[in-house]
Amino acid sequence: MTVSGAQADPNSIDGLPGRSATPDLRSDRLTLSSFTSAHLTETYVGWLNDPAVMRYSENRHRAHSLATCKNYFDAMQTGGHFFWAIHLHAADGASGTHIGNITAYADRRNRIADLAIVIGDRAAWGRGLGRESWTLAQDWLLQSGCFHKVTAGTMALNAPMLKIFAAAGMREEGRRSGQFLWQGQRVDLVLAAKFAG
Ligand SMILES: CC(C)(COP(=O)(O)OP(=O)(O)OC[C@H]1O[C@@H](n2cnc3c(N)ncnc32)[C@H](O)[C@@H]1OP(=O)(O)O)[C@@H](O)C(=O)NCCC(=O)NCCS
Repeated sequence: MTVSGAQADPNSIDGLPGRSATPDLRSDRLTLSSFTSAHLTETYVGWLNDPAVMRYSENRHRAHSLATCKNYFDAMQTGGHFFWAIHLHAADGASGTHIGNITAYADRRNRIADLAIVIGDRAAWGRGLGRESWTLAQDWLLQSGCFHKVTAGTMALNAPMLKIFAAAGMREEGRRSGQFLWQGQRVDLVLAAKFAG
């Protein structure tokens, strides 16, 4: 993994990273770059309104627009959370197509970051890009020295996400039984975590 951009900001609260600390992270096939207003596109809105993409997400209950996406982006920035756009590299290695997003909600007091991902471009599914993105973000958070623990949750039916948790070294640390009503059936919320060190 190559990391460019800000590391922990010594001037921010408790020596933890400031709100502009989302770094660029690069792997062989992907760059995670700090989400900007240029990423607020109809393509992105379309991912959130696509029932197949939102199948296992609570976002399936909501209608999304450029305005709601901007509100979310603004709230993530104001809260000092991490928000990456996932870019697939072009043939020349340059950062190319925006295929999804990954976020880390930072609970700085408890030094915990909660990760979530969407690969919105369905043509990109099943190529290991979700796992690659997840591992890049998770490993940076754990190696930054700012977070002791990375957490995540998913519907128990979300098989690819459970495989990503396992591949990234996360352990299931709990379940909320029947937390979701999904197509008339009760489905568990699976909680996973990985600790630094
Ligand atoms: C979940 C998601 C991130 C997976 O991304 P992806 O790039 O397709 O996943 P990968 O290609 O890295 O595959 C991860 C694993 O799931 C497996 N997998 C992929 N699709 C699968 C499917 N339909 N059923 C079962 N396993 C599947 C892959 O084989 C791989 O397993 P492996 O590590 O044993 O090889 C993507 O489907 C997505 O964004 N979905 C919508 C949003 C979402 O559900 N986000 C998670 C909410 S917490």
